[in-house]
Amino acid sequence: MSIRIGLLGFGTVASGIPYLLRENGSKITDAAGNTLEIAKILVKDNEEKNRLLAAGNDFNFVTNVDDILSDDSIAIVVELMGRIEPAKTFITKALEAGKNVVSANKDLIATHGAALIALAKEKEVAFYYEAAVAGGIPILRTLANSLAADKVTRILGVLNGTSNFMMTKMVDEGWTYEAALAEAQALGYAESDPTNDVEGIDAAYKAVILSQFGFGMTIDFDQVSHQGISTITQDDVAVAQQLGYVIKLLGSVEETPSGIFAEVSPTFLPKSHPLASVNDVMNAVFVESIGIGESMYYGPGAGQKPTATSVAADIIRIARRITEGNLGKSFNEFTRETVIANPNDVQSNYYFAVDTPDKKGQLLRLAELFNAEDISFEQVLQQKANGERARVVIITHSLNKTQLANIKQKLQDEPEFELLNTFKVLGE
Ligand code: NDP
Ligand code: HSE
Repeated sequence: MSIRIGLLGFGTVASGIPYLLRENGSKITDAAGNTLEIAKILVKDNEEKNRLLAAGNDFNFVTNVDDILSDDSIAIVVELMGRIEPAKTFITKALEAGKNVVSANKDLIATHGAALIALAKEKEVAFYYEAAVAGGIPILRTLANSLAADKVTRILGVLNGTSNFMMTKMVDEGWTYEAALAEAQALGYAESDPTNDVEGIDAAYKAVILSQFGFGMTIDFDQVSHQGISTITQDDVAVAQQLGYVIKLLGSVEETPSGIFAEVSPTFLPKSHPLASVNDVMNAVFVESIGIGESMYYGPGAGQKPTATSVAADIIRIARRITEGNLGKSFNEFTRETVIANPNDVQSNYYFAVDTPDKKGQLLRLAELFNAEDISFEQVLQQKANGERARVVIITHSLNKTQLANIKQKLQDEPEFELLNTFKVLGE
């Protein structure tokens, strides 16, 4: 008897699964310990069903989710619709019905994952979601299994394929923002609402999930500050290049002496840093730990086949467990009490771009403001701006989040200074 699967949604990722089952059938059957069969696929309506059938997709398409949820022969439900609802309701019902669930839905897992994980545990079924973080990179299972003996201290990641693709096209090839976004959408990288990609929200969801697997703590999505690529200007890119950096949208999760901290922000990376050469749709997760030291996991962060491969790996793992009769083990068993870091313990160097009248004494005044907050400069650059204005670029030595908030406020209070942008700067 095959292990029967119900797919919820048949978009970019889901439609890659039949390809893998077809092209790699015997290996998958050996690994799963059984043959896998796509029994039913949920689509939105009859129009979509007829369109897919006419296009040669020979599957049992259904338009009512109950056709899958009430089908006792279906053991694994694979949710690939995205967004919170109705995905949350459908997954909840599937788990309640004793079905195992695979999902790639980071929005849902980062915001409502705890309840779904608890329900899966109560029902002794599996709930796996490897594809939710960094698409084709098998990072969650690596953290849960291969780093089980290690203590992770910091995770840095290029975690959004769309924004990395867009930045690469805009910076290296001179594309416009609009053209780069349209191409990312055409290639199936972007979310249905690409705001999540370009505003750092998607990467923040992934940081939440990484906090669980890397640190055993569940940081709330609301506690992950996020800033996206839409805030980066051509001037920022040019000055970064001039000073030997590249700008990447980086997610970071770190454990400080007082607790855990996570954020997503455009970050100046020295050109020599391994993450600096992660381009196009590629993602990378750079892990610092006391055992391995530094390790980096690199691969496509989005796209049909890479993501479907991660989803299929979860399906195979569940099928194997069904065959062997040992379901119910949590995807991630590392859990500790969540303690959020004191802002004074969260340290980084920063880039400041400040617009000011181009007149005597302004640089000195700026230095006094920073000095009053005990912030020292590593590099300073003054550039001629439009008219009688100057643009001062500062790379600071390390400062903490309290100092950062204070100096931003001070600059805001000074009518002659306009803070154009401030980003984190990673050390060598
Ligand atoms: P798509 O938008 O391409 O596919 C989702 C499909 O589900 C669409 O065809 C959509 O129809 C359909 N759908 C939505 N709601 C329903 C519903 N109520 N009933 C039936 N069908 C429904 O998304 P992706 O395949 O790109 O992404 C799927 C999931 O995987 C998301 O959670 C995404 O975040 C995640 N993911 C995606 C990656 C990628 O590279 N694309 C990488 C990693 C994760 P319609 O279009 O009509 O709304
Ligand atoms: N939209 C996401 C990205 C898909 O571009 O990274 C993968 O999670």
